[in-house]
Amino acid sequence: MSNVLIIGATSTIAEMVARHYAEQGDRLYLTGRNLPHLESIATDLRIRGARQVTLASLDVDDASRHEEVIGEAWRTLEGCDIALIAHGTLPQQEQIEQDREATLAAFQTNAFSTISLLTLLANRFSEQGSGTLAVISSVAADRIRRSNYIYGTAKLAVNGYLEGLRLRLEPEGVEVVTLKPGFVDTAMTRDFSKGPLWAQPQQVAGGIVKAIERGSSSAYIPWFWWFIMAVIRWLPGPIFRRLKI
Ligand SMILES: NC(=O)c1ccc[n+]([C@@H]2O[C@H](COP(=O)([O-])OP(=O)(O)OC[C@H]3O[C@@H](n4cnc5c(N)ncnc54)[C@H](OP(=O)(O)O)[C@@H]3O)[C@@H](O)[C@H]2O)c1
Repeated sequence: MSNVLIIGATSTIAEMVARHYAEQGDRLYLTGRNLPHLESIATDLRIRGARQVTLASLDVDDASRHEEVIGEAWRTLEGCDIALIAHGTLPQQEQIEQDREATLAAFQTNAFSTISLLTLLANRFSEQGSGTLAVISSVAADRIRRSNYIYGTAKLAVNGYLEGLRLRLEPEGVEVVTLKPGFVDTAMTRDFSKGPLWAQPQQVAGGIVKAIERGSSSAYIPWFWWFIMAVIRWLPGPIFRRLKI
């Protein structure tokens, strides 16, 4: 039995991950800013077999509450085996790229809040000397694109921070996992037209659980994004610019 903390647990992908742990009879501590939604997820997870589901209301943009919520999660679960950070927003880049406040708000949610939570979680895991710290990042951080450089750069900051944490925590017995999904059909991408590269959240959740089990440093989900991003990363600048992606 594992003790699992999920931050941003109303995320479509996170809910599918939580179902996996519930079906194994694990104990879950879920945070989210929409309590009614969180409660309906908890009801479902209890029916699916979760040994215990505890909820905490948390708007991640309110960093003043991070310490209290992480502390409460640790007390309730009596230690934590897996912490997954899943929250995120996908700003409409063209609408916000000339707006300083909106750009900083996107960074607040997608980078600074995550880094604040990671700092606290890293200290807890370090003290414990075991566990897995996993974050849902994105392939968007592998090469910054014109069309979503704000989101991509925020995720890139998180990836860099995770690299540092990995170097610090792995010798102490703590795994740090950077999860890089490609296109996923979720609430975040509701208005996008979908094509063959799109994955369903259940499939992505399966990849996340596997990466956590293996303690992978980073995982492209689905796996074929490794090849796509290898090509995109290595495209020479003049060709990449002409692609207008
Ligand atoms: N969908 C994709 O194509 C895709 C691809 C690569 C990476 N990702 C990443 O995957 C993760 C999960 O996204 P998803 O696809 O499952 O989309 P989603 O269903 O829209 O989930 C995003 C979650 O973030 C939460 N959130 C946003 N701002 C928050 C805040 N200030 N405080 C607390 N919670 C907040 C949302 O809560 P509310 O429900 O209350 O708004 C929502 O539950 C994100 O980190 C996203 O960047 C997604």
